[in-house]
Amino acid sequence: MIPRKLPGQPHIAYRGNQLFVEEVCLADLAQVHGTPLFVYSKAAMLEALAAYQRGFAGRNARICYAMKANSSLGVLQVFAQAGCGFDIVSGGELQRVLAAGGAADKIIFSGVGKTRDEMRQALAAGIGCFNVESEAELEVLSEVALAFGTRAPVSIRVNPNVDPKTHPYISTGLKGNKFGVAHERTLQTYQRAAALPGLRVVGIDCHIGSQITEETPYLDAMDRVLDLVEAIEAAGIPLHHIDFGGGLGIDYNGDTPPAADALWARLLARLDARGHGDRQLMIEPGRSLVGNAGVCLTEVIYLKPGEQKNFCIIDAAMNDLPRPAMYQAFHQIVPLQPREGDATVFDVVGPVCESGDWIGRDRALNVQPGDLLAVLSAGAYCMSMASNYNTRGRAAELLVDGTQAHLIRRRETATDQMMAESLVR
Ligand code: LLP
Repeated sequence: MIPRKLPGQPHIAYRGNQLFVEEVCLADLAQVHGTPLFVYSKAAMLEALAAYQRGFAGRNARICYAMKANSSLGVLQVFAQAGCGFDIVSGGELQRVLAAGGAADKIIFSGVGKTRDEMRQALAAGIGCFNVESEAELEVLSEVALAFGTRAPVSIRVNPNVDPKTHPYISTGLKGNKFGVAHERTLQTYQRAAALPGLRVVGIDCHIGSQITEETPYLDAMDRVLDLVEAIEAAGIPLHHIDFGGGLGIDYNGDTPPAADALWARLLARLDARGHGDRQLMIEPGRSLVGNAGVCLTEVIYLKPGEQKNFCIIDAAMNDLPRPAMYQAFHQIVPLQPREGDATVFDVVGPVCESGDWIGRDRALNVQPGDLLAVLSAGAYCMSMASNYNTRGRAAELLVDGTQAHLIRRRETATDQMMAESLVR
């Protein structure tokens, strides 16, 4: 079977009959480290970042990696060393960024449900900005900051009511979902923020959704946000930065999102045309920085032919790769060492006791038990959403840099999983 062209970028490719990440043969890694195994290419991450950096060349802009996409310390370290800021959504994520060497003042804290405790942690660390999502949160943050003897830097997340044309679970900028402050209430909310003694208004932000593959929703959101910026400043509240969120999609299966530099050329032209080109800009990309930099290696355990379906049972499951079960998401699945001969159509499924535990449906594969497969585009929202369901330990992770493969997370054991538990005595 001749494998199809792989999505994304050139750092994951066949050499002869072997799949490589950069200079490292994946079958060798699976041999040494076992499966399921996540393998990431550092060069692919830096290349994805470079597209944004090119797009913002000569501008006052900060790229804050949305670490929910992949929060493993070794991955955060790559972006910290490259000078990125971070978009966090919990106290746990804050601790991870600091542990990975990220700069506190380049952290922005998003999310609809920050607790007082998380606010205190973030104030103590000295983060750059709180992206506040409701009037209630403004009041609480002001109170917490005052008690802390400081004023919290805030931006308000506005909901531009733009359809990002993506999966409903990952659309966030439409009326009727829980995120942000409604467009019509924005000015009022800013006036309240400016009046609260524990707050310092520094910016405005929006985020319209994820896996966006078109330019238009971004341009529309930018127009809506700039209308608000003008209205807020006309009311006497200066805004230092504008944060346009994340959301740019990747190629999972022939998807054609704009390149980050091309998208930003268009957006910056719009910003300039409206006279806002000198502003400090921020963005919060997640998936587009890591999604196509990672693969998940897995072994075929059994083949199970059936009357209606043939099943290819692998050792990775919905606890490792939750996106198919959660969003009917498509990930390409390819052999590490393709065989000659005819393919059979299989549903590729994991060992978890749920019918929803499938990784790919109706896939043509020529495989035998013991063969190794790679689930592609697995760098974003896979390990970071992994669970221990069925008491399955989370997979190990490797970061490949040229010829080197660094273990950045060892395989989790059952003992690790039981560590925080106790029997009743
Ligand atoms: N900023 C905020 C406020 C967000 O909520 C998100 C993602 C991002 C930035 C980064 O978005 P990205 O550039 O990665 O699209 N688990 C889903 C995706 C959930 C996205 C949640 N928010 C999936 O696997 O498709």
